[in-house]
Amino acid sequence: MDALALLLNRRSLPKLIEPVPQGDSLNNIFRAGLRAPDHAGLTPWRFIVSQGEGLQKLADILVEAAKADGADDTVIEKAGKAPFRAPMVITVVAKVTDHDKVPVIEQHLSAGCAVQAMQLAAVAQGFAGFWRTGKWAYHPVVREALGVTGNDLIVGFLYMGSPACREAKVHERDIAQFVEYL
Ligand SMILES: Cc1cc2nc3c(=O)[nH]c(=O)nc-3n(C[C@H](O)[C@H](O)[C@H](O)COP(=O)(O)O)c2cc1C
Repeated sequence: MDALALLLNRRSLPKLIEPVPQGDSLNNIFRAGLRAPDHAGLTPWRFIVSQGEGLQKLADILVEAAKADGADDTVIEKAGKAPFRAPMVITVVAKVTDHDKVPVIEQHLSAGCAVQAMQLAAVAQGFAGFWRTGKWAYHPVVREALGVTGNDLIVGFLYMGSPACREAKVHERDIAQFVEYL
C-alpha cells in the first residue's frame, strides 16, 4: 500500500471481527509502534495485549473500576462489554522515565505516536483498528490492575481486528483553516 495514500485516508473502523493480526503481522504492528519518535531513546512504551481470555480479564478490570465508582448496573454492564467490541485490544501505556531534558508530556506524546503508527501498520496489512480512551483509561483501579504508576499513562486502548464494515469516506478539510505562516 502506498504510504501517502495510507496517511491521507486513515480512518477508524468501529466494527471489527476475526481474524486478528498474529505472528509476523502482529510483530509488524509492534515494530511500527517501536519506531515512534522517542526523545533521548527512553523507549516509553508498553503494549498490553488482550485477546481470548485476556479480553475477559480486561473486562473484569473495567467492571471493578465501574463498581468502585458506585456506577449503576447499566454502566457496569457497558464496561464489561467494552473490550469485546473487537477480537483484540492493545492497551498502550506511556512508561515514563524521569529525565532532565525530556518532560513527561514528550513521553506521553511518543506513546500516542506509537498508537497511530500501530493503527496504520494494521491497515497496511489488511486489518483495521480504532483508538479509545474514555474514563476507564484514567481510572485508578484500571491503572493499578495494569501496573500503571506515577507519571505513566494509558494513552489508548487500540482495538484491533479485521474490517466488518466499510470505511466512511474521508472528509477533506480546508488546509487554509489550519495552517499559518510566520
Ligand atoms: C487519545 C485519543 C483518545 C480517543 N478516545 C476516544 C474515545 O474514547 N471514544 C471515541 O469515540 N473516540 C475516541 N477517539 C477518537 C477516535 O479514535 C477516532 O479518531 C474518531 O472517532 C474519528 O474517526 P477517524 O479516526 O476515522 O477519523 C480518541 C482519539 C484519540 C487521539
